[in-house]
Formats: sequence, C-alpha cells, structure tokens
Amino acid sequence: MDTSQFAIAIMAAGKGTRLKSKRPKVLHEIGGRALLLHVIAAAKTVVPADQIYCIIGHEADRVRAAVAPTGVKFVLQEEQRGTGHALQMVKAYFALSGDRLPENLLVLSGDVPLIKPETIAAICELHLAEKAAMTILTAVPEDPTGYGRVLRATPDGPEVTAIVEQKSLLPHQLSTPEINSGIYCFRTRTLFEKLDLLDTNNTHGEFYLTDVAAMLVADGERVVAVKADSVDEVLGANTIAEMMHLDAAMRLATARRLMAAGVTIFRPETTVIDAEVTVAPDTVIEPYVQLLGATKIGSDSRIRSYSVIQSSQLGDNVTVRNGCILDGATVANGAILGPYAHLRPESKIGENAHVGNFVETKKVTLGKGSKANHLNYLGDAVIGDGVNVGAGAITCNYDGVHKHLTTIGDGVFVGSDSTLVAPVTIGAGAYIAAGSCITEDVPADALALGRTRQVTKPGWVAEKRAARATKKDC
Ligand code: UD1
Ligand code: CA
Repeated sequence: MDTSQFAIAIMAAGKGTRLKSKRPKVLHEIGGRALLLHVIAAAKTVVPADQIYCIIGHEADRVRAAVAPTGVKFVLQEEQRGTGHALQMVKAYFALSGDRLPENLLVLSGDVPLIKPETIAAICELHLAEKAAMTILTAVPEDPTGYGRVLRATPDGPEVTAIVEQKSLLPHQLSTPEINSGIYCFRTRTLFEKLDLLDTNNTHGEFYLTDVAAMLVADGERVVAVKADSVDEVLGANTIAEMMHLDAAMRLATARRLMAAGVTIFRPETTVIDAEVTVAPDTVIEPYVQLLGATKIGSDSRIRSYSVIQSSQLGDNVTVRNGCILDGATVANGAILGPYAHLRPESKIGENAHVGNFVETKKVTLGKGSKANHLNYLGDAVIGDGVNVGAGAITCNYDGVHKHLTTIGDGVFVGSDSTLVAPVTIGAGAYIAAGSCITEDVPADALALGRTRQVTKPGWVAEKRAARATKKDC
C-alpha cells in the first residue's frame, strides 16, 4: 500500500466527562501507557509521524507535553463541539498550514486504544479497493449499549446507509448489534465538503462526524463497513470500569505473548505487566508480580511473588526473592536479591552479587560476587568485587546539605553495624571491625577499628543485687 496517499487524524480533544476525573481522558493509562500513546504507536506503524495530526483541546498543553516526543503534529480544537467539529479543525489546519492534502484521511479515536496496526492497514486497503468515500470499522460486541450503530443497506453487503447514535436510535433500531468503532477512512476532499454541512440538531447539540455517512449516501457516494477481527480491539474507554477492562485485556495479551515466547507465568491474571516489558525464555514469573515500564529480564531468572520491578534491566539466572522493589536498577547475571530488597535508581548490582533482606541501595555499584545480605543502606557508593558488607552496616552519604561518595576496594570486609561516613575510601583487602564508625580513609589491607574499647566490671551486677536485697530486709 502506498502510505503517502494517507494521513491520520486522531481525535483526542474531548474532556471525558464520564470518567469523573481531573485527568484528561486520553492521558488515563492502560497497560502502563496513556491511551493516546497507544493510538499514536499504532498510527506510526502505518504512516510517519509528520503525517499524523493529533486533535487536542481539553487540557491541550498537558496532552501536548505528554505526547510531543512522538513527533506528531497538533491541531487545536479550542472548544469541543463534537467529533464533526474536531475534523472541521483539521480542515482549517490544512488550509492554513499549507501541508499537502492527503488523498485519504484515516480517523482514529484517542479513546479506542487497542486498535492493531494490521487492522488499520486492512481498513486503508479495503477503502482503496472499494473506491469508497467512507469506510467504517465496526464490531458486534456482547453489549452494544452506548455506541453508535451502523445500519447496513443489506444484511450481507458492505454498504452502509447511516450511523445512528445511541440516544437517537428509533425503537426498531435499538436491537441493531453492529457498532461504530469511531475509526474510519475517508476520501479527504469528499469529507471536507460535507463537514461544513453538519448541524447540531441532536440530543447532545454537537456536530457528529457520524452524520457524514448518511450525507454521503444521499449524494450517491459509497460508504462501506468492515468488521474488526476481534471485538476487544475496538472497545472504547468512556468510564474507569471500561478502561480497567481494556487494561486487563491488554495485560493478559502481553502475558500470553511472553508465554508464547517461552516465559513461564504462574497465574497470569494476577500479574501486572506493561506493554514494553521484555522477558527472555525460561524465566519464571510467580503470582502477583508487577513488571513495569521498559523493564528487561534475561533468561533462566526467577521473579518471586509480590516483587515490583520498574524500568530495570535484569540479566540471566537472576533470582528476585519475594517482595523486592526495583526502580531503575541494573542487575547482572546470577545475582540474588531479597527477600524485601529495595533497589533505587542507579543501583548497579554485579554478577553473582547478593543483596539480601531489608537492604536499600541507591546510586551504588556493587561488584562481582559482593554481598550485602542483611539490613544495609548503601547510597552513593562504589563497591568493588568480593566485598562482604556485614549486617546493619551503612554508608552515611548525606551531611544534611550534600551527598558524598564512599569507595570500597575489592575484597574488603565491612564488619556488622559499621557506619562509613562519606566521603571516605576503604582500600582493597582492608578489614573494618564490627561496630566501627569510620570517618577517615583506610589503606589497603589494614584493620580499622572505630569504636571505644569495651569496659567489663566483674561481679558488678551481683554486688548491686546483693545491696538491694539487704535494703529490703531492713
Ligand atoms: C463516538 C461515536 C460513536 C462510536 C463511539 C466509538 C460520534 C458522534 N459518535 O461516540 O458512534 O460508537 O465513538 O467509541 O462520533 N473528541 C474530540 N473533540 C470533540 C469531541 C470528541 O476530539 O469535540 C474526541 C474524544 O476525545 C474521543 C473521541 O473524539 O477521543 C470520541 O469522542 P466521544 O465523546 O468519546 O464519543 P462517543 O460518545 O464515544
Ligand atoms: Ca468514546
């Protein structure tokens, strides 16, 4: 298909009153990504970004900022007077901008996010093959309530006579099962002629884009409908409940895609996996795991229940035990985390390293085979290979104003409950005695003790006890 003949308009200016939310509808998220970003991603597989026109209006600045990195163009619809009015703005934009008028205009809805690239391509192709003025993507869902209905000229033919909105359905049309998906292809010039003739004589007092269908038919133009392969693909999201239905459908589809590629997911319906996540074969994901953002996981790893992994990269043979939280972390092959480890941004965990129970890391490099297994805070530190960080040891990285670096060489042994007051450097092979407060650099292979000596008073308690007993006798 010659895509230079097509441009895509995405209607995304509406407020989404039915959501009862402050956030503009198209910025609500499913599968971890704004509705509008899903639609733009699908559109970009068909035409380049500079042939995509995103119609924005309600909270336009916020919507623009959220999707600007995709490179699409923006058409402002300051007042939202209906889907027909939205397209009138596109017509005005072409007149003013001098952008080349495409022969055909594909219209997508910003709140119909599961549309597949193949389906978009299929309706464009059918539109050309049928030489239609308008091609409508339709579906027959279990419950068509709320959608516009597509009236066909004959039960089996592709020709359509009109689209009727739910509130305008006549009693005998109420049982019409076929819905309008809000996705269409138009011959641009023909559409633009008709847009000026729309009126607002309807229950919502809006300009309905859907009215164009009957107008074209009256002119003897060809209006055809094509059913989508799957109903889910064209479901709209007008309420939070509808959105969560789409969210579940999308995440299940992601889980199925991963399982088909060799990943084991126990109870996939309990996992929350974002669309961008990748997992290599033979990795096992236990129930109630969340994999979010651009997380990447290698092969033969195991992610145990209740772990939440956000935008992190994990290698092969990694074990994430129960209840870990990772955000922006990098974990090399063979590492073992948790249970209940918290890896904050820029935590880089080396090959076969261990980060154990209730350990928090931030902006840390932990070298190969190093271990921090119990109750540590490691922040702003570069830790070498083969280091053992004892239970309860911490880096004191913050002086109340600035953050400072702790450097720990290869093979260092940090005794339990030590505090390393940064900036400080511990040379390779050094030993830090348990309970030390280290404020000065320690040279390689040295032993550092930073604690007061123990005082032991033999018999002290017995004496006190005896004294108390005598007092009571008096
Ligand atoms: C629309 C269709 C309906 C179809 C349904 C499919 C019309 C009149 N009705 O109804 O036949 O079954 O979609 O989901 O088109 N928008 C603008 N500017 C506006 C108004 C809306 O950009 O002035 C955008 C919205 O942000 C949304 C899309 O257009 O992304 C559809 O608008 P919405 O109000 O949700 O239409 P529906 O009532 O769902
Ligand atoms: Ca809608």
